[in-house]
Amino acid sequence: MASYQKVKGTQDFFGLHSKKLRLLEANIKKTAESFGFQEMKTPIIEHTEVFTRSVGDDSDIVSKEMYTFEDRGHRSITLRPEGTAPVVRAYIENKLYGNGNSISKYYYVGPMFRYERPQAGRYREFHQFGVEAIGHGSPLLDCDVIISAYRLFQKLGISHITLKINSIGDFESRSYYRNALEVYFKEQLEGLCGDCHRRYEKNPMRILDCKVDKENPILKNAPKIKDYLNEASREYFSEVCKILDRFQIKYVVDEGLVRGLDYYTDTVFEYIMESDDELNGLAICAGGKYGGLVHELGGPDLPGIGYAFGLDRIISILDTQNKWGTIDTSIDAFVIGLDPESKLMALEVANECRDAGLIVELDYRSTILKTQFKTSEAFNPKYFIIIGEEERESRMITIKNSQNKTQERIAMSMCASWIKENR
Ligand code: HAM
Repeated sequence: MASYQKVKGTQDFFGLHSKKLRLLEANIKKTAESFGFQEMKTPIIEHTEVFTRSVGDDSDIVSKEMYTFEDRGHRSITLRPEGTAPVVRAYIENKLYGNGNSISKYYYVGPMFRYERPQAGRYREFHQFGVEAIGHGSPLLDCDVIISAYRLFQKLGISHITLKINSIGDFESRSYYRNALEVYFKEQLEGLCGDCHRRYEKNPMRILDCKVDKENPILKNAPKIKDYLNEASREYFSEVCKILDRFQIKYVVDEGLVRGLDYYTDTVFEYIMESDDELNGLAICAGGKYGGLVHELGGPDLPGIGYAFGLDRIISILDTQNKWGTIDTSIDAFVIGLDPESKLMALEVANECRDAGLIVELDYRSTILKTQFKTSEAFNPKYFIIIGEEERESRMITIKNSQNKTQERIAMSMCASWIKENR
């Protein structure tokens, strides 16, 4: 018989791993909500154009990494590689901008898909938690968003991360810079990889993002955006830095940070991991401001800013830094029935306890006490509920504490409330 393996670069989540993901999501949601972000759920599939128009035709994501297919109605559909464009699409489609005077704040969580080369911290299906604040653009909002990510790291107890920020300027600054790069790279093309030749033709700024030529001195010596920022962009960025200083948020200005997605303008940032293993240097959170994206996707001319965390990478860093604390993997009770009639009653008691919100398991196969204790080991119960002929007749059950082994006899009808009080 054929046996199947998961698709390369994907993961199965079960047991502790799945608990970690859920715990992380719950924690992050709470903090995001305290910053005024509300949940938005968008479909996992979108029309391909949502991404080609926003992330950019010539970005690595669009040109090499998207899972795109034609559906039965001959539409080009793509599994979302990121969450910003779908949220902005939904913002426009549902006219969430209202009269254009308010800021809409959303968070989203879920799987994203990119056909990348799988390696440590890089998957083809990965999980992001992202936020987007749309409808306004100011250094104050940029900083509040950057700080919300910072607080999340603090709340999770994550240390050893560096915040890198840069400005890639407004549209005017970007066009000066693009011209300067065109002139510079024209002379240097021979020393660059094949992909960079293609990037040169379409968008020379993309060359700065090349993973192959990352350490190439041609890239390192390329003109820097900061020298091409116009007055407005320079002032904007200096204000962002001032506010971060005031809130004592440590950051490094990285003049080479340009980000691989087309929609950014002005502020861009990444939180980078420092660790002794192969995850060192990976971004665990990245984002920036997007001045023209809402308009580009057919909405009003309103800016937004956001970021996304790579949850898979955060799980790894919490593992490495040993920051999970104790994750409760136990269940509340395991019900044991010592004869066929008592097994039926065990099922009844289990379901009464479950109705009361407890997590309860039982053994479906055996009436032998020892075998049932053995089965229970996989569930790590706090209590055993034991039912035999005597308990059945008196409707008084025996509850045994799995830790200190003490036993109590209580009325069957009180079972759920007793465990709730004593767990
Ligand atoms: P991004 O930099 O493409 O930005 O991805 C954000 C984060 O997702 C990365 O920093 C990383 O932690 C995680 N990530 C990306 N690709 C992978 C992968 N293949 N495997 C594991 N983790 C990965 C965006 O997606 C933008 N939408 C962020 C944003 C929101 N900008 C504005 N708003």
